[in-house]
Amino acid sequence: MRKWCLAMLVVVLLVSVSWAQAPVVFKSADNQPDGYPTVEAVKFLGKVVEEATKGKYKIQVYPGAQLGSEKETIEQALLGAIEMVRCSTLTLSGFYEPMGILSLPYLFRNYDHQWQAVLGAPGQELIDSMSKNLNLVALAWFEAGARSFYTIKAPIMKPEDVKGLKIRVPESPVLTNMVKFLGGAPVHLPFGEVYSALQTGVVDGAENNPPSYYAMKHFEVAKHYSLDEHTRIPELVIMSKSVWEKLSPEEKMIFKMAGQAASVYQRILWKQFEERSLKAVQEGGAKIYNPDKGPFQQAIKPFYDQYSKYKELIDKILAVK
Ligand code: GCU
Repeated sequence: MRKWCLAMLVVVLLVSVSWAQAPVVFKSADNQPDGYPTVEAVKFLGKVVEEATKGKYKIQVYPGAQLGSEKETIEQALLGAIEMVRCSTLTLSGFYEPMGILSLPYLFRNYDHQWQAVLGAPGQELIDSMSKNLNLVALAWFEAGARSFYTIKAPIMKPEDVKGLKIRVPESPVLTNMVKFLGGAPVHLPFGEVYSALQTGVVDGAENNPPSYYAMKHFEVAKHYSLDEHTRIPELVIMSKSVWEKLSPEEKMIFKMAGQAASVYQRILWKQFEERSLKAVQEGGAKIYNPDKGPFQQAIKPFYDQYSKYKELIDKILAVK
């Protein structure tokens, strides 16, 4: 009998030691290519977590949409099949409509206004209400600059130029309605299919920030980039709430702290990469235009009427100094 007890003790010890050494690996999805600011910032988040938990948790980042499109990976995170996703709030708005407020054209006056709002009460209100309604928690806000139109044939220099154009937009109700409102034909395509759609003329143009225009090589097939900067859409690193709830209070604090550090780091990377991207696309043959934003802002104004049910939160954001 004594031999049995000894053997059991040894097995329990071995298992507990092996468990203590085998890290818990969280998968984190991103549809941007390796080296992109969001991918590098989540790797950094993982390093902070691994260090602070003495190797108990590791984050394995899967860039380039290896785990699926942004929409598919958010669906997986909702099921707990993928632990983390870096996604745009424009895609999240398909799962939680109020997130679409952050996609509204010309909502944010500039970078500083945007970051005051998302790191302040309005941003906190949105992520708290998202967590109440979805199996997701937000770990970090990421920067994604401003989205502008790029076209194959001729630049979009005034709102009327959008009329009759087939413009690829992500599955964002706000961007879809915006292109329709300007007289264009919005075409939904996953991010990874935009290059070939531009190359084959399935669409006449698309719209995105300079780093995406560069990193996905869209500048090769749509050379006219007019910086109308119609919207600034913040991004999030989200975690499946069912995964989050298994963490201890200390581990939750570590992930939150790592998220805050990663958010600062991503904004530093973003500024550098954004400048590099604008330079690189011009070297690659793209033509950059700076249209007068006034007519675009005027043309879009009545568009806000469709979002009057979110007037309270929109006014809170507009009131942020
Ligand atoms: C941006 C964003 C992506 C998104 C893409 C899109 O590049 O970072 O997360 O998928 O826009 O337009 O689909």
